[in-house]
Amino acid sequence: MSKTIIAGIGSYVPERVVTNEELTRLMDTSDEWIQARTGIEERRYAKRFEETTATMGAEAAKIAIERAGITAADIDFVIFATLSPDYYFPGCGVLVQRILGLKEVGALDVRNQCSGFIYGISIADQFIKTGMYKNILLIGSETHSYALDFSTRGRNVSVIFGDGAAAVVLQPSPEDGRGILSTHLHSDGHNAEILSMPNPGFHCGVHNEQWKPSVPENPYGSLFINQELLDKEDFYPYMDGQAVFKKAVVKMPEAVMEALNQNGLAVDDIDLLVPHQANLRISQMIQQTMGLGEGKVFNNIQKYGNTTAASVPLALCEAWETGKVNKGDLVCLAAFGSGFTWGSALMRW
Ligand code: ACO
Repeated sequence: MSKTIIAGIGSYVPERVVTNEELTRLMDTSDEWIQARTGIEERRYAKRFEETTATMGAEAAKIAIERAGITAADIDFVIFATLSPDYYFPGCGVLVQRILGLKEVGALDVRNQCSGFIYGISIADQFIKTGMYKNILLIGSETHSYALDFSTRGRNVSVIFGDGAAAVVLQPSPEDGRGILSTHLHSDGHNAEILSMPNPGFHCGVHNEQWKPSVPENPYGSLFINQELLDKEDFYPYMDGQAVFKKAVVKMPEAVMEALNQNGLAVDDIDLLVPHQANLRISQMIQQTMGLGEGKVFNNIQKYGNTTAASVPLALCEAWETGKVNKGDLVCLAAFGSGFTWGSALMRW
């Protein structure tokens, strides 16, 4: 079976830079607090009423397609990972199919938050290895800034997230030895609500009393969204940051070790680890606990914040553009996020 390579990669971030200082005008926070706890210096926010998760994803995809040396007409499958889709349904995959004028190819949406790109890579790898598809477009894109609580109440979440997109084209490897060596996916739903955005939603509070909506007068009234939710502004992401931190610093290294062990490789063999850009302190702790040398972990959260499904490809794209990823390098991607879901992808570039 043929291995799968990343044949082209591209990214797109909105022009608008939002500094920590700008956020201090909206909520009780400070540049020092944000930098010390997260490493973030600035992030990008999409242009309201113009840019969306799908349009930014399409921009990144155009670059990835061009760099792969193909045209949009060659794409035979689309995978779109996001937690901030343009519509509740349909997903962003079909919107990209329309924007790019792709053929009537399959379009799959992945709902795995920060690890969505790793899940997408794994899915694409299976399709390529079996020979079903030859040019898969995988996109990770997010528009967090349209639905964050910019009051002090939401500061632990809103200072972290940013907007952006990145995309790759996956193809069968033209050379022996190059390509994805293995992918490893995991989940644990016991703490699904620890990092979540339950509302608006179809849950009716069955998983958690705290989010039980009031019973509408009309027995057929919407349980998805109601006035009470709007009045209480109970429709923002929720995060227990410390619980997420503790789990992320254990599960990401575990997933990297799983990949190395499966392939008979060691930590020292890694040329570059590209972890999900959740928080600079999480990346630094992983680097330390795994004993990865200077320059072996790539971070760009300082400039973009946490862009969830876009974060791994956005970092990988910059690493590649700046010459930190070269042919033959052993590159490991790892992510951890809401669900919890986590995973890794190990590849010979
Ligand atoms: N500015 C100033 N003060 C703040 C802010 C802010 N933006 N946010 C929270 N605080 C305050 C809190 O109110 C609290 O004050 P108190 O002591 O008076 O109650 C104090 O700072 C400490 O709050 P903690 O939540 O305990 O702060 P912590 O040191 O845990 O840092 C953070 C918060 C940065 C979210 C941290 O928990 C973290 O990094 N967690 C990892 C989660 C993460 O990175 N998530 C990213 C998304 S998930 C993912 O991608 C996997």
